[in-house]
Amino acid sequence: MAGELDGRVALVTGGSRGIGRATALRLAEMGATVAVNYNASAGPAEEVVSQITVAGGNGAAFAADVADPKAVEALIAAVVGKFGKLDILVNNAGIVRDNIMMRMSLDEWDAVFNTNLRSMFITCQAALRGMMRNRWGRIINLTSVVALSGNSGQANYVAAKAGVIGLSKSLAREYASRSITVNAIAPGYIDTDIVAAISENLQTEMIKQIPLGRIGKPEEVADAIAFLASERAAYITGQVLSVNGGMYM
Ligand SMILES: NC(=O)c1ccc[n+]([C@@H]2O[C@H](COP(=O)([O-])OP(=O)(O)OC[C@H]3O[C@@H](n4cnc5c(N)ncnc54)[C@H](OP(=O)(O)O)[C@@H]3O)[C@@H](O)[C@H]2O)c1
Repeated sequence: MAGELDGRVALVTGGSRGIGRATALRLAEMGATVAVNYNASAGPAEEVVSQITVAGGNGAAFAADVADPKAVEALIAAVVGKFGKLDILVNNAGIVRDNIMMRMSLDEWDAVFNTNLRSMFITCQAALRGMMRNRWGRIINLTSVVALSGNSGQANYVAAKAGVIGLSKSLAREYASRSITVNAIAPGYIDTDIVAAISENLQTEMIKQIPLGRIGKPEEVADAIAFLASERAAYITGQVLSVNGGMYM
């Protein structure tokens, strides 16, 4: 709802493309000031910010590789320095490095863990300090349907995304007394660059497993994230919200 997040400051990691982009735009539409983090995609991140400002909102782009702990600490400091606080943290940045276990390298394991899970340890720790002081906060962490179901060829990704669920539930318990909620969103197959890399045949096979019979849209995930960020979700914490067209129940 428009105006619902007036006065709130949000950070979306990996806000330059896909689900993060749709989330940044949705939060801004609801009134939040939005920090759009990116790593490689400076142009697309600036486009997201200009779309926000053209629509009358407020935001800025922030470069940082979330796999680099020092860069992440500097990112949170830069956001708080520019906008005065951080109320809503959406840990969205993520990568895949798929391989069957027998061929998976330690580098592929580490790259996925550092980007998809270790990054959240650092963003959450840094963001929680201010949220605790303000006695209000929303943390929304992107996991995946495969964290619930398992998936062959993705041992690194699935293990990291399952870790995201454990981290979210533990932080939910630790910080509930300060009115800080922590939830995870588990998308199914969503139409972004990650999925575009999958062959057409495999995509057709994947769609057959989805009761709603189609791939999801980034905006449909962004809506669920925006709901969890709002006051309407004040009594929801420690949950995993699936947005997957029914493909895993
Ligand atoms: N799409 C799906 O079907 C699906 C399903 C389940 C879960 N998810 C999860 O949802 C999240 C978003 O996925 P998506 O499909 O929207 O991905 P995407 O279209 O590939 O976009 C990934 C985003 O993450 C950013 N990013 C990647 N590595 C980064 C790093 N080291 N530091 C900072 N930003 C980084 C990218 O920014 P740059 O281009 O600037 O690097 C980009 O904005 C991920 O956590 C993913 O695992 C997606």
